[in-house]
Amino acid sequence: MNDKLERLRQLADELNMHNVHYYMEDNPLVSDAEYDKLMRELEALEQELNIILPDSPTQRVGAPPLTAFDPLPHRTPMLSLANAMNAGELMDFCRRVEKEFPGEILSFMGEPKLDGLGVELIYEKGLFVSGATRGDGYTGENITANLRTIRQIPLKLKGDAIPDILEVRGEVILSHANFKKLNAQQEQDGKPLFANPRNAAAGSLRQLDSRITAKRPLEIFIYSPGEIQGIKFKSQAQFLEQLKAWGFPVNPYNELLPSSEAALDYYQRMEKNRENLPYDIDGIVVKVNSWRLQNELGMRTRTPRWAIAGKFKARQETTVIKEIIAQVGRTGAITPVAILEPVQVGGVTVSRATLHNQDEIDRKDIRIGDTVLIQRAGDVIPEVVKIISEKRPADSQAYRLPENCPVCGAPTSRVADEAVLRCSNRSCPAQLAGSIEHFASKKAMDIDGLGEKIVQQLIENNLLHSVADLFSLEYESVLRLERFAEKSAQNLIEAIEKSKSRPLAAVIYALGIPNCGEYLSRILAENFGSLAALAKASADELLALEGVGPIVAESIRTFFAEPHNQSALEKLKSAGVNPILQKEKKQEDARFSGKTFVFTGALSKFTRNEAEKMVQERGGKTLGSVSKKTDYVVAGENAGSKLSKAQSLGLTVLTEDEFLEMSK
Ligand code: IVH
Repeated sequence: MNDKLERLRQLADELNMHNVHYYMEDNPLVSDAEYDKLMRELEALEQELNIILPDSPTQRVGAPPLTAFDPLPHRTPMLSLANAMNAGELMDFCRRVEKEFPGEILSFMGEPKLDGLGVELIYEKGLFVSGATRGDGYTGENITANLRTIRQIPLKLKGDAIPDILEVRGEVILSHANFKKLNAQQEQDGKPLFANPRNAAAGSLRQLDSRITAKRPLEIFIYSPGEIQGIKFKSQAQFLEQLKAWGFPVNPYNELLPSSEAALDYYQRMEKNRENLPYDIDGIVVKVNSWRLQNELGMRTRTPRWAIAGKFKARQETTVIKEIIAQVGRTGAITPVAILEPVQVGGVTVSRATLHNQDEIDRKDIRIGDTVLIQRAGDVIPEVVKIISEKRPADSQAYRLPENCPVCGAPTSRVADEAVLRCSNRSCPAQLAGSIEHFASKKAMDIDGLGEKIVQQLIENNLLHSVADLFSLEYESVLRLERFAEKSAQNLIEAIEKSKSRPLAAVIYALGIPNCGEYLSRILAENFGSLAALAKASADELLALEGVGPIVAESIRTFFAEPHNQSALEKLKSAGVNPILQKEKKQEDARFSGKTFVFTGALSKFTRNEAEKMVQERGGKTLGSVSKKTDYVVAGENAGSKLSKAQSLGLTVLTEDEFLEMSK
């Protein structure tokens, strides 16, 4: 036991160390596979010993969803900053401070003003115990589970100088690159896009389900103290150094500024440098470096007298909307985009701005010919802030998105309560590549080898016009394509052929019905039993199902009502995509009915997934841990604790071959 406990501690330390190298220093010491192996060992040990260390890296993947966030009062209020709108106002601040302390050698700390979400992290005896949003400055929301998923946040402080209580504050941000990736994923999933990185970071951090937050590549920089008990600091510079020593991420552009002139220079340099940073900043913060002097200067009601935000010029300009076009994305979402009279905004020529959706157009009353104020956040596509109503042409008319898809002409539809308008035709050329990639993906038809590039190539060579065309692809025509050889062409044809036997739930998922994910597809499969029955389902029948509300019901009905989709489904059927409901199979073969199986050790004859499927198809259940209620334990190579437990409980232990024999 003690050896195992020691190993548990050792694994947690080692994995935490690898996290630092990977997420903070961008310099991994081990391969992903080695990292995963250590993680799996730790997970297994935690399960076996039933112990989870407070700084365990396994806890970063998210916890079950909450119903609401609890309030978390701040021990010291989280203040905001007074603003200096230009260089003159910034100099006024510095001069005022200098005047207050004649004869003192003053220095300032210059920091980028990160455009994200302010949060507080609380450590007790060096361990991360809770964290909150800023809220109204006095009480925030307890978002501990979400913060834990941010890999840069140390769960345990490094070093010896560990205060009893340490509260630190910082900004959670999303980089431009990760923002783009996240929006691409949102689009792929048929979900609404985020307007800018800040909104995306806020949306990610305020998820009730922290498993979703865990998938969002949030980052954080720490910059200010809350309550600290047991350690004293002389200056912001010393505090920032200590933050680094504890293992916190501290912004590399922070700079100690020896004078007011240096502060002004920093402001001007950072405004230029703004375009080169990988994340959004909306100004700089200048803080009096000495904490003694900060104390003497004290506070106004909500802002300190010892710091100021030097805001950058808003990257806003006015221009004219020449035209509004409706852009069709890969999931059929139709986005209105304003075509602008080109204008320079913060050094970049802008000629388009997203108008998001019809509601946004209506809310801002945006029309062709309007003069508008536009702004740019980061290198993100610009948006319209407002119209200048005085300049509206007399003959202007309200804009409405088209009733037919501008690419294929199929009717567009808007599901009740959803902001997005969509083209209803899955074979629309604008959606084709995306829908085929989704169709072929692992959880859908699982067509090995049919990735983005190949799909593109098949479309470009006129071989695919809908997903159904996959099934009439011929070996010879694939072989003729660049990059294909006999073997690879054969493999692709075989993988497509094999996909015909995918279960009903996977085929429903593969169709890519908006709002219809993997889980819902399973429910639909179980309740309707065939594509034909699902296609005929009434709104009431759909609404009767768990997890189906009006939006989802409507989206399923619209999908099956669309003639292009109906003809694609007909083609699939005649190609032999005739899904069988798993449940029917289960009923046919119920030899494991009521039996539970545990698989342990390294399996060589089948994968764990295949084994689970074999058991389920025969009416049995698989479980992760052994108990006296377990009927069979199937042990592969190097089976460990689960096997010994099974033996001590006198359970039936099978080899892989014996299991295969039983399943025949
Ligand atoms: S110091 C009393 N430093 O700006 C000092 N704030 O308008 C409070 N912010 O709510 C904050 N970067 O969310 C500080 N380097 C930085 C900052 C920063 C961004 C945000 C923070 C705060 C807001 C104040």
